[in-house]
Amino acid sequence: MSGQQALFKRAAIIGLGLIGGSLASALRRNGLAEVVVGADKRAEELALGVELGVIDQAARSIEEAVTGSDLVVLAVPVRATRAVLAEIKPWLGESAVLTDVGSTKSSFVADVEAVFGSLSPQVIPGHPIAGSEKSGIRAANPDLFARHKVILTPADDANPEALANLKRLWEGCDATVLTMSVAYHDEVLAATSHLPHLIAFSLVDTLAGEDENMDIFRYAAGGFRDFTRIAASDPVMWHDIFLSNRDAVLRVIDHFTHDLDQLRDAIANQDSAMLLRVFSRAKAAREHFSKMLSGQAYVTKNSENQVTFRLQPGGAIAGDIRVPGDKSMSHRSIMLGALANGITEVKGFLEGEDSLATLQAFRDMGVTIEGPDDGFVRIHGVGVNGLQAPRGPLYLGNSGTAMRLFAGLLAAQPFDSELTGDASLTKRPMGRVADPLRAMGAVIETAEGGRPPMKIRGGQHLTGIHYEMPVASAQVKSCLLLAGLYAEGSTSVTEPAPTRDHTERMLAGFGYHVHRDGATASVSGGGELVANDIDVPADISSAAFFLVAASIAPNSDLVLRHVGMNPTRVGVINILRQMGANIEVLDEREIGGEPVADLRVRSAELSGIDIPEDQVPLAIDEFPVLFIAATCAKGRTVLRGAEELRVKESDRIQVMADGLANLGVETTVTPDGIIIDGGQTISGGQVDSEGDHRIAMAFAVASLRATGDIEVTDCANVATSFPGFVELAQSTGIRITAEGAE
Ligand code: S3P
Repeated sequence: MSGQQALFKRAAIIGLGLIGGSLASALRRNGLAEVVVGADKRAEELALGVELGVIDQAARSIEEAVTGSDLVVLAVPVRATRAVLAEIKPWLGESAVLTDVGSTKSSFVADVEAVFGSLSPQVIPGHPIAGSEKSGIRAANPDLFARHKVILTPADDANPEALANLKRLWEGCDATVLTMSVAYHDEVLAATSHLPHLIAFSLVDTLAGEDENMDIFRYAAGGFRDFTRIAASDPVMWHDIFLSNRDAVLRVIDHFTHDLDQLRDAIANQDSAMLLRVFSRAKAAREHFSKMLSGQAYVTKNSENQVTFRLQPGGAIAGDIRVPGDKSMSHRSIMLGALANGITEVKGFLEGEDSLATLQAFRDMGVTIEGPDDGFVRIHGVGVNGLQAPRGPLYLGNSGTAMRLFAGLLAAQPFDSELTGDASLTKRPMGRVADPLRAMGAVIETAEGGRPPMKIRGGQHLTGIHYEMPVASAQVKSCLLLAGLYAEGSTSVTEPAPTRDHTERMLAGFGYHVHRDGATASVSGGGELVANDIDVPADISSAAFFLVAASIAPNSDLVLRHVGMNPTRVGVINILRQMGANIEVLDEREIGGEPVADLRVRSAELSGIDIPEDQVPLAIDEFPVLFIAATCAKGRTVLRGAEELRVKESDRIQVMADGLANLGVETTVTPDGIIIDGGQTISGGQVDSEGDHRIAMAFAVASLRATGDIEVTDCANVATSFPGFVELAQSTGIRITAEGAE
């Protein structure tokens, strides 16, 4: 015993099997109850309980166990519950807490109600998600629940103190406690535990009945063994579980049988698109779940992965590298490939979380997508009118591009849809796309202030409009052009300043005519897209970190390969060159309608400049790292006309200014920009990236000229645009390590 005050004076454990025995020994070892009394009809188990030190006392009867106990735990087989409850009833104290450890919860509640007439606030059903292939008290293990989940299913009027004590009791056994409703528990367990057990039992039984069963088992591959491991579980226990969770289990069996039938038909009809669709969707879902749950069952989503960058000062940049694929083009390649007729193959696809969110959303709408496999993706296009209604909301993570472009695309579909995202995306303005889409006839609901989620009503007839964009935004332009594919007549968009034109170029590549007249792009609705292979160049926005890194770090010389050089994206090169950077553009070529080049960058003395306002939209994503360049330059840099930076993944003007201030660099923030006097010392310190990928990477670059260690927190989102950043940065000479990364 630990000497701390125990939570309960006397705990009665009724039933000394594996779970009851393990709980009893955990309570004893961790000092959670002053006395642990065991009761079991099997005299040998009871005697063993004392002999093995699992319990303090063996009760000869339920009366003896329950009388005077302030905690009673039912750990008997599910089918015995009602009879044991009837035995407990006369002796149960009014303030005693009654709980259980059974796998189904509605049956327990029904048994309690049958015996006691109602569910008293002192009764709190429980279910530890832990077990072992071994059974019986000899297998009792006080660590059985450590790092496992325990689900409690309290009624609304459960006694809060009883609940709190029971939670503490399980936490004292090192378990994580979750609470949910009885019905939800049984649904979840039916799907995630009961159905898999049923299938495993059934599969082994079916194969054992085949004529060649000996051979089947002899040659059984690892997959069969893994898949059927749970068919070795206790038949009686599972018999009880299926009968007591009958309704929820029947629902999930019916759903599964229906889907299995569809797969059977797909095989019979050689429907390879259907098979690939289901398998690749399942593979993606499996990977998604594993990541989300990081190996633990029933963890909620809010246990976010916290990643911190640690940087040592100094270093020179050298190497010959290729940064990951362009994010904007990766999104669009999936979108247009999905809407085209035929198969589109994509090379160089960015396997970052933003573009993967787009890919997953199309899978959710019935599109078969193979990959990504080392940047290679094969999309089985379904045609402009071939999307299917998704089963639930489309979750777009951190990606503003995905949400805004999807809004245009979905506004014209025959089905309803809902677009959701993470905390950062949920704060970003969507009125800029919802308003013009509404003018086209779309029906869209947003949350307060025009924020996500966006609820889009299907079945609307869209009519083309002419729209003069108040902000220079490629996302708004692309959204309206995509809606325009479905609208009656012509949809045209005029931009106040040139913005990236990947949508226009890619539409043309897919054989869809886009008319360009000065600052106006237009499409006519009703056409078709023809599948078109795409070679995505390296993202200039990711290359930007290394352009600045090699410019500011002395003795640097770096080559960046295959960088996208679309004229609407090269603002960062124009600005850096104007500051005096030494960037050579080599081997310029055009690939799939987009200019591409290799870049060689060497250290240079940078000077501060007034950034030309016409360059702002052309370098819109590169400002965080350009601020670092400005800090290292001689003289003053002034940025104006960049209020858009305030509504990116974070308020990039303020968050950069705050981060720089933490490193001893003073700046002047203005409503639409910033003034940075270069030549200030960058000291060591801690910076919060506020979950903004580009801010995290910008401060990693700042370390090259810092005088002390820098720690950048909240960096997990670097994976949205630049998977593998840390390793690539290390390989060039940045002294970076990441903590907390998977
Ligand atoms: C993007 C356009 C830009 C950019 C974003 C990607 C695109 O946003 O900041 O990272 O792919 O269309 P805005 O068009 O809203 O400025």
